[in-house]
Amino acid sequence: MKSVKLDIAKTGIEIPAAMKAKAQEANALLHSGKGAGNDFLGWVHLPSSISDSDLDAIEAVAARLRAKADLVICIGIGGSYLGARAVLEAMSDPFKLLHREQTQPTVVFAGQNISEDYTWELLDAAREHSIAAIVISKSGTTTEPAIAFRLIKAEIERRYGKQEAAERIVAVTDKARGALKTLATQEGYPTFVIPDDVGGRFSVLTPVGLLPLAVAGVDIRALVAGAQEMERATDASVAFDENPSAIYAATRNLLYAGGKKIELLGSYEPRLQYINEWWKQLYGESEGKEGKGIFPASVTLTADLHSMGQYIQQGERTLFETIISVVKPAHEVKIQSDAENLDGLNFLAGKRISEVNRMAELGVQLAHIDGGVPNIRVEIPEVSARVIGGLLYFFEKACGISGYLLGVNPFDQPGVEAYKKNMFALLDKPGYEEASKAIKARL
Ligand code: PA5
Repeated sequence: MKSVKLDIAKTGIEIPAAMKAKAQEANALLHSGKGAGNDFLGWVHLPSSISDSDLDAIEAVAARLRAKADLVICIGIGGSYLGARAVLEAMSDPFKLLHREQTQPTVVFAGQNISEDYTWELLDAAREHSIAAIVISKSGTTTEPAIAFRLIKAEIERRYGKQEAAERIVAVTDKARGALKTLATQEGYPTFVIPDDVGGRFSVLTPVGLLPLAVAGVDIRALVAGAQEMERATDASVAFDENPSAIYAATRNLLYAGGKKIELLGSYEPRLQYINEWWKQLYGESEGKEGKGIFPASVTLTADLHSMGQYIQQGERTLFETIISVVKPAHEVKIQSDAENLDGLNFLAGKRISEVNRMAELGVQLAHIDGGVPNIRVEIPEVSARVIGGLLYFFEKACGISGYLLGVNPFDQPGVEAYKKNMFALLDKPGYEEASKAIKARL
């Protein structure tokens, strides 16, 4: 069972031989390590390089945290946050907290914002639970998670003492650099390393994603196995027509060249919403530079048809859509017949909800195509750890190929530094005295 089946028939795109060749070259460059940003290609062979003992080590630490805490706070932002959240939400029952008995620790996230209220409310709720924390930062210097960690560390130390805190806090960071590494070494926290050659947005299959997911009870072995299958399926030796990542990358670049500047990633399964968020970072940071790049946006369907549907159907014709289509739901719910039929829905009696959802998907697809919105379909057989692992790697590989086709370095993010300088100047960080005066004069 393939984890991803790509269908570009509804884009109107015929991929020319020259583009196929370019995509093959781009994929070969990722494998040869001779392209732009080649210091950050560790993700290309990451799935196949994860050993059983790597997974054993992650699972052992996860088991310790699970035994100690029923609430694990995972601290990180951007690439040190979105992958874990995306997989966790995809694999979770959204109503699990409503069940009286919890079988898994709850994993919540912090450090992905600087909201005082979010922080207060998290610390407040945490007081009712036995807690532990995973702090994740590759650079070890990112402000948002550093602030959250300072507060959560203090709370854990206040409640359990310093010695026990070192049993309840795990750090995931660079092997040598950064304030978090220094702090973790000094405090004696168990630490996992984020490889130098794997950038944040490509790091979901490192301990950045795998540790919180293992704590939450996700089958990380299946996740990695799915990614390994996709690594093989998108290898440089695979013919273009057989390689879903190459086809997706080529198609979206051809659409972009034809004026489609915005890509909407969507799905009819709300549990995939954070996959959209992870994907937006992956593509936005990788391609949005040098005045170029498809703007990655997202919709959750059918909800957003009632808010964004009008624009998609008839607004500026600069959109195309990529729909992650799930074939098999995990559960079965049928619509029953009603003797009075006051809502007029008896024509649906006996049908599964998923049949209605599927007809919505097909109807929307045709309506949007008629409205000038090309549609790429990424079909996945089910939402399982194996399939999601494959989906993540499918998008990563396509992103690398796509960035090279666009002619940018997909592995840097010089633009994300600009706001930090201003923020530090406004906060009077030592070393920013001149910038501070200048920016305050502009306010
Ligand atoms: O992709 C990236 O590089 C960024 O989104 C980072 O992941 C994000 O800024 C967090 O960085 P760090 O892990 O160094 O705290």
